[in-house]
Amino acid sequence: MPRLIDIITNNLTRRNKAVPEKGVSQTGSETRDAGGGMISRDIDPGPKESPGQIPEPSDRLILLYNDGLAVAESVIAGVVGGADLDGASVTNLAEKVVEEFIRDTCNSLLLCSYYTSKNDYLSSHLVNDVILSVAFGVSLGFGREDISKLAVASFLHDLGMIADSGLRMVRGKLKDKEFSQIKKHPIVSTEIAKKYFNDDICRIVIEVHERVDGKGYPYGKMDRELSPLSVLLSISDVFESLTHPRAFRERFSAYESLKMIISMGGRDFNNALIRDFINFTSVYPIGSLAYLNTGDICMVVARSPENNPMRPMVKIVVNNKRQVVARSTVIDLAKNQLMYLKGPIKKSEEEELVFLVQPRGFPEIFRY
Ligand SMILES: [Fe+2]
Repeated sequence: MPRLIDIITNNLTRRNKAVPEKGVSQTGSETRDAGGGMISRDIDPGPKESPGQIPEPSDRLILLYNDGLAVAESVIAGVVGGADLDGASVTNLAEKVVEEFIRDTCNSLLLCSYYTSKNDYLSSHLVNDVILSVAFGVSLGFGREDISKLAVASFLHDLGMIADSGLRMVRGKLKDKEFSQIKKHPIVSTEIAKKYFNDDICRIVIEVHERVDGKGYPYGKMDRELSPLSVLLSISDVFESLTHPRAFRERFSAYESLKMIISMGGRDFNNALIRDFINFTSVYPIGSLAYLNTGDICMVVARSPENNPMRPMVKIVVNNKRQVVARSTVIDLAKNQLMYLKGPIKKSEEEELVFLVQPRGFPEIFRY
C-alpha cells in the first residue's frame, strides 16, 4: 500500500508541474516557502467583508453543532439519572445531520467536528462521530435508510461508557482490570439502545469496537461477520479519537492520524476500507492546516465543489509574515490556479496553532 507521504508527494509533484513557480498571495506578497520563525502574536485583521463563496453562513452550522451538543449533554444526564433514553431527540438530531450532508456536498459541517467539549470529551465525541460517519457513508453512496441507522448508532455507541466516567478520564495506561471493564461498554450501550431502537441499529452499536482480525471486543468477531455500517463507524470513531485530546494524551494532527490508520491495515481495518476513508478525507481533511505555495498557512474549510481532493476550499489563518489572520476570505483552490497546497504544516507549528482546530466557543477566527 502506498505511504501517505508518497500519495501527497506524487499528487503535489503532478500538480506543481501545472502551476507557475511564483504566485501572488492573498495578502499581495510574492510566493515563498513557508516555515522559519515563530508565529507572531500580531493579528492581521484581514479584509472587512467575506465574499461568502460558500452559500450558507457558518452560524447555521455552529447552531446545528451546538444543538447536537445540547442533545448529547441532556441524553448523558438522563442516562446517568436512570431515565429512559430520549430516542426522539437522538433521531431528530441524526436526521438533521443526515440532511445536511445530503444537501451540502462541500461537507462544511465537518469543520465543527474538530471541537472537543470541556472537562469530559464524551458529549462532543458522540456528536463528532455522527458527523464523521454520516459524511463518510454519504460519500460512499449508502442509501438514506442505512445512513440514518448509522447516524443514530454513532450517537449511541459510547453511552455505555457513562457509568465508567472515572476510567474514561484516567491519565495513564489502564490496568488489565480497568481495560476489561471498558471492554464491556458496547454491551451496556446496546442495552440502553435496544429499549428504543431496532436490531439493525443495535448491531452497529455492539460491533463498533470489533476488528477485522478478531482482536476487537466484546465478542472478537471477524471481518466477514461485521456489518458494513459497523466498520464505517469503527474507522470514523478511531479518526475522531486520534484527532481529539484525551486525558492521557494530546490530539494528533489529521495527517498523523491518517498515517496511524494506514498502519492499522489488515489488523483493525481492511485495506479497502482504509483506502475509501482516505479518498473521503483526502490527505488534507477538513479542519487540517497546510502550507500554501504563497508562504501562508491555511485551514481546509470545505471540500472542493468540483470534487478535487487536492484543491479544497481553504482560508488563510497565518499570513506569510507569520501573523495570525483574524478574518480571511474563503479561497476555492479549484478555481484559483495560482495557489496550491504544498503539504501539511510542521508538528511544531501545529502545536502553536492548536487553538484554531481546538476552538473554545467557536471564536471569530474559526468562522468564514
Ligand atoms: Fe467512540
